[in-house]
Amino acid sequence: MAKSETQVGIIGAGPAGLMLSHLLHLHGIESIVLETRSRQYCEERVRAGVLENTSVELLRAAGVAERLERESLCHSGIDLGLHGRRHRIPFLELTGKTVTVYGQQEVVKDLIARRLRNGGDLRFECSRVSLHNFTESQPYISVEGREETDTIHCDFIAGCDGAHGVSRACLRAGAHTVYERTYPFAWLGVLAEAAPSREELLYMYHTRGFALYSMRSPHITRLYLQCKPDEDLSQWSDDRIWSELMTRLGCSDGWRPTEGRILQKGVTSMHSVVVEPMQYGRLFLAGDAAHIVPPTGAKGMNLAFADVYHLAEALHAYYRDDNETNLNAYSRTCLRRIWNAQRFSWWMTSLLHLFDDATPFDCKRQQAELEYVMHSTAAATSLAENYVGLPLG
Ligand code: FAD
Ligand code: PHB
Repeated sequence: MAKSETQVGIIGAGPAGLMLSHLLHLHGIESIVLETRSRQYCEERVRAGVLENTSVELLRAAGVAERLERESLCHSGIDLGLHGRRHRIPFLELTGKTVTVYGQQEVVKDLIARRLRNGGDLRFECSRVSLHNFTESQPYISVEGREETDTIHCDFIAGCDGAHGVSRACLRAGAHTVYERTYPFAWLGVLAEAAPSREELLYMYHTRGFALYSMRSPHITRLYLQCKPDEDLSQWSDDRIWSELMTRLGCSDGWRPTEGRILQKGVTSMHSVVVEPMQYGRLFLAGDAAHIVPPTGAKGMNLAFADVYHLAEALHAYYRDDNETNLNAYSRTCLRRIWNAQRFSWWMTSLLHLFDDATPFDCKRQQAELEYVMHSTAAATSLAENYVGLPLG
């Protein structure tokens, strides 16, 4: 059995865990990152694609935006669509800000490369990760690696292991409240080898269900279709997917997505979850381990970055000045932003999806709301300022 020691033990090498490890390194604080999956799996997992301005600024300030500056796409608005009619929400005009399209797996690749270049301790393919003693002053983590069992002693544990990790499950029942909502639909997402045939994202309300047109690069399109939570992917041939995308996304002016080879497809369920508080003794939750948003508002990765920014600052104050004020305020500080993003993500989801139990009245009201957002500057500005992201606070 091997023993290691570090200041912060980080569970999970997603955007939250990797960014936290890098920010701590910049503050001179040591960490070890423990990840169950392989490096290749983490680098290839296709998920988020939209970065808020504050996330880009954070990556820039942390010196990990070099490739992002070269390869990302800057979007100054989105289109909303209703019954084949599109209407642009001009973010730059309404808020002075833009968003950046850059795949989550690219951010993960950049962060892994930088941590390794800086001598960071990232351990992939760990099995049976368990957390101990985090309500006392000397927590430790046990891990079974490929060859041996390791015990990592640390001052703090950061639970950055996503929605299905061990950290959230460690919270004592009764000491925490979990607020949640499950939506009666999911997204069937595809990645296609096709040059985007429009410059910005299109969120389309359709009587057959919501559809989203997004992209990753000048050669790759990312598309989503509202589907059932238990949708059987084997029933979705590439032809059926393209036919449904053409029907739902096709516009009255003749615009259609460009078809291409489908590189990957998958179904993503939709939940809203918030765990309060996000701290338990010396265990701090960050990112999807603490909260999940439905992807319609494009907020998940951005919230993960905001959490770890605050956690890194609080740990820095602790080690530099022996000051625990910010650590104790961590949960409160993050939750303000998280609830704003929850509200916005719930609202975008409710605005654009079909609900099985919706009455004809509900559908008419929903369409009237969409028309209002499309044509009122006040309503469009509210969408825009939430989509581009509120200040880190
Ligand atoms: P994760 O990325 O889930 O990372 C957690 C890591 O922990 C994983 O690598 C996992 O393997 C590891 N792990 C799990 N269990 C253990 C364990 N026991 N021990 C060790 N390691 C463990 N967000 C946006 O901001 N913009 C978008 O446009 C957007 N679109 C999305 C589209 C889809 C289809 C989906 C599914 C999500 C989208 N999101 C979006 C959300 C975003 O992907 C997540 O919020 C983000 O991945 C959260 O990062 P994280 O580091 O907290 O968690
Ligand atoms: C994506 O490109 O994957 C994406 C974009 C916007 C969203 C969700 C996902 O709201």
